[in-house]
Amino acid sequence: MNKDQYILGIETSCDETAASVIKNGTEIVSNVVASQIESQKRFGGVVPEIASRHHVEQITIVIDEALEQANLLPGDLDAVAVTEGPGLVGALLVGINAAKAFAFAHQLPLIGVHHIAGHVYANQLVQEMEFPLLALIVSGGHTELVLMKEHGSFEVIGETRDDAAGEAYDKVARVLNLPYPGGPEIDRLASESETAIEFPRAWLEADSYDFSFSGLKSAVINYKHNLDQKGESVNPAHVAAGFQESVVDVLTVKTKRAAEQFKVKQVIAAGGVAANKQLRASLTETFSALNIPFYVPPISLCTDNAAMIAAAGTSMYNHGVRSTLAMNGRPGMELTSWNK
Ligand code: KG4
Ligand code: ZN
Repeated sequence: MNKDQYILGIETSCDETAASVIKNGTEIVSNVVASQIESQKRFGGVVPEIASRHHVEQITIVIDEALEQANLLPGDLDAVAVTEGPGLVGALLVGINAAKAFAFAHQLPLIGVHHIAGHVYANQLVQEMEFPLLALIVSGGHTELVLMKEHGSFEVIGETRDDAAGEAYDKVARVLNLPYPGGPEIDRLASESETAIEFPRAWLEADSYDFSFSGLKSAVINYKHNLDQKGESVNPAHVAAGFQESVVDVLTVKTKRAAEQFKVKQVIAAGGVAANKQLRASLTETFSALNIPFYVPPISLCTDNAAMIAAAGTSMYNHGVRSTLAMNGRPGMELTSWNK
């Protein structure tokens, strides 16, 4: 009988310090996330220097906790997987150095994982992947449509040309004086509103799978300025609902068109914005009408976590991918395939 495989994942690319142990690539044994959101709220966004300090304070506690909850010793692990990029360099370096020290001390293989590959593999913890697969990745830093023909193979068929979807949520929330992070706030306000202001949709060229959200953000800002100048007040719920309708409409239509063109067997959504209730409902409805299986992980696995890094790391480990102790944080890291 084959021995069970245990991989430790570590994630510190933005404002969550996270560690997790995954069994055989699909089963969560422990999943610890220390969020800095409460602290970063004061600044209305993530301050990189403060993020790094929090990671330094939390990282060893979080790793110890993940092993303790898993009831495992370092020697029981097969490898250590850590987010190598993209992200805030000072934040990435904390996780990477902790992973290197841990791997060196316990003589374990080290694997550097792309953060977006992690978001995609969050689904592997919920549902076995079937290929060809289309992944819509929508987070604070990314908006991408990725085609996967097999495990570890990624083809980016569309991406944002300016702001990421989550970034647009956070910026519009700021305009509406809502707290950080803006996504959940806009989600909640929009679901309570019966009226939605009409905002534009950026479809770009007819055959393009790229996205653009900066025009929508400007439209919201202009709308508010116009009302401010007339001395009228803005109804944040109406704006939130209109903004969200525009985002969800574009994301749904482009994902649907790509799924049909590439005749995929499965569609998955990933990243923090995939926690959005209206987006989940819209994609579920669209793909159930097309009879294409659609999956999205539970909200705790949509936002940043280390279980997804360990899940992607397991696939990489099984494909023979190894990093060296020379690994560095790569803020602009490209998503490349490990199964070529
Ligand atoms: O994946 P994530 O946790 O971190 C990054 O890798 O960026 O995504 C964070 C982003 C933030 O912009 C946040 O506002 C957004 O995800 N977000 C949401 C929701 N929950 C989080 N956006 C829309 N609706 C939500 N419910
Ligand atoms: Zn993320």
